[in-house]
Amino acid sequence: MSSSNKGLRLSMPEPEPDRVFDDADSPELTRAKNEYLRVAKVRRFNTDAILEQLAYEGCLTVEDFEKKTAWVKEQDRVENIETVARSMRDRGFPRRHLDTIVAAFIEGKDQQVTDALAKARAFAAETGRCLLVLSGGTGVGKTHAAVSLTFELEVNGRLGYNGLGGISHFIAATDLAKRAGFDHEAQWRELEQSRLLVIDDYGAEFADGKGWLAAAFDGLINHRYADCRLTVITTNLDAAAFKSRAGERIADRIVEAGRFVVLAGESLRRRKAG
Ligand SMILES: Nc1ncnc2c1ncn2[C@@H]1O[C@H](COP(=O)(O)OP(=O)(O)OP(=O)(O)O)[C@@H](O)[C@H]1O
Ligand SMILES: [Mg+2]
Repeated sequence: MSSSNKGLRLSMPEPEPDRVFDDADSPELTRAKNEYLRVAKVRRFNTDAILEQLAYEGCLTVEDFEKKTAWVKEQDRVENIETVARSMRDRGFPRRHLDTIVAAFIEGKDQQVTDALAKARAFAAETGRCLLVLSGGTGVGKTHAAVSLTFELEVNGRLGYNGLGGISHFIAATDLAKRAGFDHEAQWRELEQSRLLVIDDYGAEFADGKGWLAAAFDGLINHRYADCRLTVITTNLDAAAFKSRAGERIADRIVEAGRFVVLAGESLRRRKAG
């Protein structure tokens, strides 16, 4: 090797040896210390820094270490929830709903389980079904349930990663037309391939006279149905109006591989305001 090459040699940090405590502590204390070291290292704390901090804090008992371990695990849990929520916002999921969902999740409480949320969860538990339509009057919690379902699946690692920079997507039906043009092929493909796609407020979009958007919608749903990808559609249309707008082909696919859920009840918005 020439002397000029020597100067270019990359110096890689030595991998840290796995350090374990094996001093004169009781086995319980050794176990508690090692467990703390393990979780703290996952958060990429350096072993020496951890040991230094422990000495500074005067941690001595099993309880000290268990408390610290629980704290680090809680930090991890909250960070994971916030990362998922941030990423979902970037993929179009509305902040208004996500914030409520995230706050409940961080607190470890369940949200208000509306009929919409219960039915969405029941759908997710059914295997082999991929197309959910939540139909009902305004304010019954359809959009919230669709966002919550997606969040719950993502945070529990149930959607995996599809290699396209995102694993689920949310789009208002009124925005579908903007994505369906020839100039947006990549964005359209993202909607076709997303692991879970929420199409919000189907029926609110402008139905062009030539049926061009209807054909694009049909193509999108059919593509996703063929690949067994989860699709959640929220709509104010009842079953008959939905069928007449979406067409026989989509209605047929819902019968075979989906659920058309009709939600009754008064608007939660009005109840909140009242
Ligand atoms: N499970 C829930 N927990 C807390 N708040 C909820 C829940 N479900 C719905 N809400 C709240 O109720 C209101 C109405 O919910 P949402 O927007 O989901 O209704 P919607 O059925 O989609 O209505 P629209 O048909 O008008 O779009 C919102 O303010 C929402 O945040
Ligand atoms: Mg809605």
